[in-house]
Amino acid sequence: MLDVEKAATWLSNAKSIAVLTGAGVSAESGIPTFRDAMDGLWAQFEPERLASRQGFMADPKLVWQWYEERRATIKRCRPNSGHIALAELEAKKPVTVITQNVDGLHSQAGSKRVLELHGNIMRNSCFIEGKLLRDDELDTASVPPKCPCGSYARPAVVWFGEFLPEDVLEAAISASRHADVFLIAGTSGVVQPAASLPLLAAERGARIIEINNQESALTPIAHISLRSNFAVMMPKLVSLVS
Ligand code: APR
Repeated sequence: MLDVEKAATWLSNAKSIAVLTGAGVSAESGIPTFRDAMDGLWAQFEPERLASRQGFMADPKLVWQWYEERRATIKRCRPNSGHIALAELEAKKPVTVITQNVDGLHSQAGSKRVLELHGNIMRNSCFIEGKLLRDDELDTASVPPKCPCGSYARPAVVWFGEFLPEDVLEAAISASRHADVFLIAGTSGVVQPAASLPLLAAERGARIIEINNQESALTPIAHISLRSNFAVMMPKLVSLVS
């Protein structure tokens, strides 16, 4: 039996599936990673200048412009066949998608149960109060725009040195512990705590499948490694799931 067929059998028999995704699943949608996007004008800055509370306090306008540029790029991108296949899997089986991506493409593709560990770049929150802000609440007279409380709005993503949203992390831990099959896709598996979620599943005897076009830090714990591009392998895998 081919590895992809074996993986599909595990998914077909699963009662609960958790999927951890990273930048690699959006690569074929044309979304550059944070570091890849730091070219041209942005190459002169340390990542912490553009994505930390300290960086924002030092120069809110610069950080806002960086995010506006990334938002414009992401708005031009569409979910790829891998995102769509993953949404189709959820129509067949109980699936929780846990993503490190901030691009929102899983939801756009039709996935319903999505846990965005690092937030969503299209949303804003109040820099001081932390609460999410709707677009119609923003005072756009300044750059960055302001929350009704008078402080700046910021992108609702997790910056360097910040905690992950507690409720989202708790839900991800619970989904990982309950999964009997855990699929890891397009992540290097080095950023914590996301990288530890598949270990929680493995400890409880879950089958671990990885899709990555290269070896990753999580390859050693995978029972099956599908060494392929996500947009190619995911549709193939899901077509074999009954
Ligand atoms: N198909 C499958 N895998 C791919 C593809 C592809 N088309 N393209 C790249 N990959 C793999 C790479 O081999 C690599 O292992 O995806 C992984 C991408 O790794 P990273 O760029 O490190 O992204 P990620 O794991 O999501 O990083 C985690 O770090 O930069 C922070 O907060 C950011 O959420 C991000 C976190």
